[in-house]
Amino acid sequence: MIQDVARRIAQERIAPSAESFDRSGEFPLENIRLLGENGLMGIEVPTEYGGAGLDPVSYVLAMVEIAAGDAAHSTIMSVNNSLFCNGILTHGTEAQKQTYVRAIAEGREIGAFALTEPQSGSDATSMRCRAVRQDDGRFVVNGKKSWITSGPVARYIVLFATTDPAQGARGITAFLVDTQREGFHRGKTEPKLGIRASATCEIEFQDYVVQADEVLGEVGQGFRIAMGVLDAGRIGIASQAVGIARAAFEATVAYVKERKAFGQPIGAFQMTQAKIADMKCKLDASLLLTLRAAWLKGQGKRFTNEASIAKLTASEAAMWIAHQAVQIHGGMGYSKEMPVERYFRDAKITEIYEGTSEIQRLVIARNETGLR
Ligand code: CAA
Repeated sequence: MIQDVARRIAQERIAPSAESFDRSGEFPLENIRLLGENGLMGIEVPTEYGGAGLDPVSYVLAMVEIAAGDAAHSTIMSVNNSLFCNGILTHGTEAQKQTYVRAIAEGREIGAFALTEPQSGSDATSMRCRAVRQDDGRFVVNGKKSWITSGPVARYIVLFATTDPAQGARGITAFLVDTQREGFHRGKTEPKLGIRASATCEIEFQDYVVQADEVLGEVGQGFRIAMGVLDAGRIGIASQAVGIARAAFEATVAYVKERKAFGQPIGAFQMTQAKIADMKCKLDASLLLTLRAAWLKGQGKRFTNEASIAKLTASEAAMWIAHQAVQIHGGMGYSKEMPVERYFRDAKITEIYEGTSEIQRLVIARNETGLR
C-alpha cells in the first residue's frame, strides 16, 4: 500500500513538476507537505508520534518511488525520515519525540542534520563547532556547519558539536536546535549540479543557547549517534540511487523501442541490448542489496556493513546507468528537453553525500578484515 501511495504521488504530482523545480531551484514545499500528509515523512515513526508505523523495507519501497519521480524530493524525504526522525526515535526522550518527531512526521515542519563543517566532511571527528556547558546545565554553541540539506527551510536540526575537543570522537554531543531562536543564522546557499530543488546552505551559531533537555542522548555520545543514524541514512540514499537508476532505465527502454537507425529500432542492435542487459542487472542487484540492509534493520540486527554495501553498489550503479542512458539517447540525452540529463546530474550526489564511495569502501573493508 505504501508503495502504491508513493508511486501515485510520484507519478501524478512530483514527476510532472520535476523539470520546473530543477530549473528554478525552488523548494517544493507544497509537495513535501503532501508527502507528510500521506505518512511519507515518518514512515518508520510509530503512529503515536504522528508517523506511518511501518518498517524499513516499506521505507525503501516508498523512497524508490519518490526518487524515480524526482531525486530532489527524495533527498528531503530521506533527511526527514532517516537522519532526523530515526536518531530521535532511537536516542530521544518521550518529550523530544512528541515535540520534534511529530512535527516532521506529520509534514508540518522540515528537519535537518548538521554534521559537516567547511573543513571537515569525511573526517567528521575533526569538527570545530563548540558547545560549552554552563553551570546551570545549558550549553552555549558557537561555530559553522556546511552543506546542510534543507538548511534554508528547516525548523529543527539535529546538531553535532564538540563538548570536549581533547576527547575526539568521545567528546562530541548531539543537540536539538530550533532555528527560530536567537543565535541561529543561515549563510550562503549552495549552487548545486543536481538535486537542485533540495535547498542546501551553511548555518552558523553565535552564542546559541541549548537547554539541558535539548541534548540528544548522552553528552559525549554524539559521534556514535551520528554514525548509527548514518547507517540508516545510507539505506535511504541507496534507495534514492535505485529510484534514479530505475527512472533512467525505464526512459531508455522506452526510447530504444521508438528511436530508429539504419532501418530498425536501436534497441534491436546488439550493442544497445548489451547495455540494456547490464543496466538491468545492476539495477536489480542494487535494489536487492538495499532491501537486504533494510530487512536486517527491521530485524533489529546490526546492518552497518550491509548499508554501506548497498549504498556503494547502488550509487555507483545509478551513475553508470544514468551515463549509459545519456549515451543511448545520444544528442537527446544531452538536451534538457529529456529528463535523462537530469538523472545524470542527480545521480552524482549519491556517490558523495552520507559518506563518499571511498568512505563506504573503508567501512566495508574494515568490517571484512577487522583491520584499520
Ligand atoms: N555505529 C555506531 N557507532 C559507530 C559506528 C556505527 N556505524 N561507526 C563507528 N562508531 C563508533 C566507534 O565504535 C567508535 O566508538 P568508541 O570511541 O566508543 O570506540 C567511534 O564511533 C569512532 O569510530 P572510528 O574510530 O571508526 O571513527 P573514525 O574517525 O575512524 O571514522 C568513519 C570512521 C567511517 C570514517 C566516519 O568518520 C564516517 O563515516 N565518515 C563519513 C561521514 C559522513 O558520512 N558524512 C556525511 C555527512 S551527512 C550528509 O551527507 C547528510 C546530507 O546532506 C543528506
